[in-house]
Amino acid sequence: MNNFQYKNPTKILFGKGQIENLTNEIPENAKVLMLYGGGSIKKNGIYDQVSKSLSKFEVIEFGGIPANPEYEVLMEALDIIKAENITFLLAVGGGSVIDGTKFLSAAALYEGDEPWDILSKNIRTLKGMPFGTVLTLPATGSEMNSGAVVTRAETKEKLTMGGPGLFPVFSVLDPEVVKSIPKRQIANGLADAFTHVLEQYMTYPVDAKLQDRFAESILQTLIEVAPAILKDTSDYKAASNFMWSCTMALNGLIQQGVPSDWAIHMMGHELTALFGIDHARTLAIIAEGHYTYNLDSKKDKLAQYAERVWNITEGTKEEKASAGIQKTTEFYQSLGIKTKLSEYTEDYKGTAQIISKRFEERGWKGLGEKGKVSPSDVEKIVEMSY
Ligand code: NZQ
Ligand code: ZN
Repeated sequence: MNNFQYKNPTKILFGKGQIENLTNEIPENAKVLMLYGGGSIKKNGIYDQVSKSLSKFEVIEFGGIPANPEYEVLMEALDIIKAENITFLLAVGGGSVIDGTKFLSAAALYEGDEPWDILSKNIRTLKGMPFGTVLTLPATGSEMNSGAVVTRAETKEKLTMGGPGLFPVFSVLDPEVVKSIPKRQIANGLADAFTHVLEQYMTYPVDAKLQDRFAESILQTLIEVAPAILKDTSDYKAASNFMWSCTMALNGLIQQGVPSDWAIHMMGHELTALFGIDHARTLAIIAEGHYTYNLDSKKDKLAQYAERVWNITEGTKEEKASAGIQKTTEFYQSLGIKTKLSEYTEDYKGTAQIISKRFEERGWKGLGEKGKVSPSDVEKIVEMSY
C-alpha cells in the first residue's frame, strides 16, 4: 500500500427529512446565496423545503446554472456575490450546480485578475468561501469532495479545478429527492459513479486489500440496485443505496494508498466539450477502448474485477480480463446507455486527432496511473470508441 494523508471535513446529513436541519449548519449571521439549476427544484418541492429551512437568514437566489456549468453564467453569480457581500453559498442541485458553486467559492476569494486562470492554470484553492450543498442527483460525488469541472462554451473547453479549500462544509443527502429524477439522469448517475470507482481501482495491484474490497463492494452495490432504481425511482431502499454509493465512489476514501487513472474522464470531458454529450455517457464511450488498449498493464486488476465483481471463474488471466471489459460495456448498455461515439454524432471522424492535439498543446504528455498514456495513445483509444 502507498503512503497517504487523508482528511475529509464534509459533514453529511443523510436521510428522510434532513433538509430541514440545514438551518443549524449555516453560520448565524450569514448572508446566503442559494444557487440552483434550470428549475427542477421548483417542480419537485425541494425549493420549498430549502426556502423554509432558510427562513431565518438573509437569502439571495441565483438560478439557471446549466448542466456542465458554464463559466459565463457563473461570472454573473460572482458579480452578485461581490455586490451583495455574500458570506455563504448554498448549492441546491446535482454535480453541475455544486461544481459551479465550488468555482464561485474559489473565485470569490481569488486575488488574481482573471478567474478563468483558476481552471486554465490549475491554481489550487487553499481557502474558498464556505458553502454547503443539498444534493438533488446522486452521481458525481461532488457533494463530498473538493474537485469541480467547469465548461466554457466560447472555447469549447471543459477543465477541472480543486484544492483542500473546496470541500463543502456540509451536504444534505435525502434519498427522497431521487423520486423526481428522469430515467436518463438515473442511468447517468449509475454509470458515472461506477466509472469513478473503476478509475481508482483499474490500475495495478499494490496489495491494498481493504481499498480493493471497498471499491468492489461499491461496484456490486451499484450493479444490484440499478434495475430497482431504474424501475421505480420512489423505491426508497434502492434510492438510499444508490445515493450513498455515488457519494462513497468519489469522496476520497477508496483512492487512499492506491494509484489512480482518470484518463477516461480526461478524454470524456473533451467529448462533452466538443459534442455536448452527457458526462456519464462520454465515460461509457471511452472505457472499453481504454481498457482494451491498456490491457497488458491493467490485466491483474481487470482479472480480479472480473472474478470478484462478475463471478468469472473460467479462463486465463487475459481471458478473464477481457471478459471483465465486456461485462463493463454490457453494464452501461443495461442502463440504456450507448457505448459508441458514432451512436451520438455523425460528426465523429477526426475527433481522435482533435483531442490528442489538445492534450499535446496543454502539455498532457502522459495520463493514467503510470503517466504513460501519451497523446498518440489517446488518439488510438478515442478511435477505438468510434
Ligand atoms: O437544472 P435542473 O433543472 O435542476 O435539472 C437537472 C439537470 O437538467 C436535473 N436534475 C437534478 N436533480 C433533479 C433533476 N431533475 C429532476 N429531479 C431532480 N431531483 O438533472 C440534470 C443534470 O444535472 P447535472 O447536475 O448536470 O448532473 P450531474 O450530477 O450528473 O453532474 C454532471 C456534472 O458534474 C461533473 C460533470 O463533468 C458534469 O459537468 N462532474 C463532477 C465531478 C466532481 N465534482 O467530483 C466528478 C464527475 O466525474 C464529473 O466530471
Ligand atoms: Zn465522472
